[in-house]
Amino acid sequence: MEALSIPEMIRTKRDGGALSSEQLRAFVQLVSNNNIQEAQIGAMLMAVWQKGMTPPEVETLTREMMLSGEVMSWPKEWAGLMVDKHSTGGVGDKVSLVLAPALAACGCKVPMISGRGLAHTGGTLDKLESIPGFNISQSAAQVQEILASVGCCIVGQTQTLVPADRVLYALRDITSTVDSLPLIAGSIISKKAAESLAALVLDVKFGRAALYKDLESAKELAKLLVEVGNQLGMRVGAALSRMDSTIGQRVGNSLEVVESLETLKGRGPDDLMELVTTLGGVLLVMSGLAADQSDGRRRIREAVMGGAALSKFQAMMEAQGVAKEAAATLCAAQSDYHRVLRKAEHQLELSSPADGVVVDVDGMALALVLHQLGAGRSKAGEPVNHSVGVELLVSLGQWVQKGAPWLRLHHEDPAPSQDQISRLQSALMLGAQENVRRKTLVAELLLPQEFMK
Ligand code: URA
Repeated sequence: MEALSIPEMIRTKRDGGALSSEQLRAFVQLVSNNNIQEAQIGAMLMAVWQKGMTPPEVETLTREMMLSGEVMSWPKEWAGLMVDKHSTGGVGDKVSLVLAPALAACGCKVPMISGRGLAHTGGTLDKLESIPGFNISQSAAQVQEILASVGCCIVGQTQTLVPADRVLYALRDITSTVDSLPLIAGSIISKKAAESLAALVLDVKFGRAALYKDLESAKELAKLLVEVGNQLGMRVGAALSRMDSTIGQRVGNSLEVVESLETLKGRGPDDLMELVTTLGGVLLVMSGLAADQSDGRRRIREAVMGGAALSKFQAMMEAQGVAKEAAATLCAAQSDYHRVLRKAEHQLELSSPADGVVVDVDGMALALVLHQLGAGRSKAGEPVNHSVGVELLVSLGQWVQKGAPWLRLHHEDPAPSQDQISRLQSALMLGAQENVRRKTLVAELLLPQEFMK
């Protein structure tokens, strides 16, 4: 069985060869069963990052990752209603927290298997775990129960749900192997295929604060994700969306929960609402619950603005372990969120150095400092600090006066260094009104042929 020796597989990939289905199956099984050393997984990830994979290798890797755990099955009457959305990762990207309950309020079933923070990007699971009691570890049977009673749940990879991604995801984060087309495709599509979906929409981001910086590379990723999703039996649409600054005004796990709740109470920022309604609209059309994209967007907007999505979020929190009273406090019309969500020890306000218009906000610069201050991981499995984050106190295009507060940092001890403070300070840029970096958020929608109208 020389061909199945791990060093041999690593060498094959390192030298640019293709792995056989048998080799990929063996690798994924060894990863899932914990029968391989982390150094070997790291070496294989780096070899894949450098040499890529052929289309058949990507399909096999993804299928084997899906089969590493349970593939969920649903009652017949839910066929067609099973939908989900997944993002390739952003800064301040809290879309899932608003969209999953909005879709449930529109009659869909959303069994969302999500991820943790990856590289500089935030993770839905880390955000939800900032809510005391929220349990992201649910079995397939529990997921079905929650879908029957609530309509949506957001869970993580476990020993029984895509265990291979649980291991690979955590190790990619700390080995600089996140931005690899085959590894992203395997990671995202294996989770979604294990959900046995009828329709999936992908938010493929491009720009300064995304995994891929330019539209063309993001499009290549989107096409690969759609192709592998189709091969695994799902109807897949994709939105190519710009990720240069931040989505909304808050970045950091618990601060993003606050902004999601504000959005579910009808007070959300426009860019977040645009993504939620666009992505949700696509799913409602693909699942036959809306006549066209504008009808789909309208229904999602109504679910959010009318409070139905907030009720679903509250019910989902309770079903996933949050105490009734805490869930009610978070969902009250005027909530003191920090009665439930821990606040960081210190808040530091930074002020505008001059008069001017805010022309640009560098989401990547903000994310990198927050990562260093504890919002992200440098070791697999390490806890993150849920309370670290920033609030933007100004918006793009806003005129500010010298000395006016424009960014609030939430941090713990030790205090941020002078270098970190100046990097935060220069993430916001002043200039003239005509130079405001305001561009269309969703650059392109890639939909299955039958929905292209
Ligand atoms: N989200 C995932 O689940 N996996 C990736 O690789 C990137 C984003």
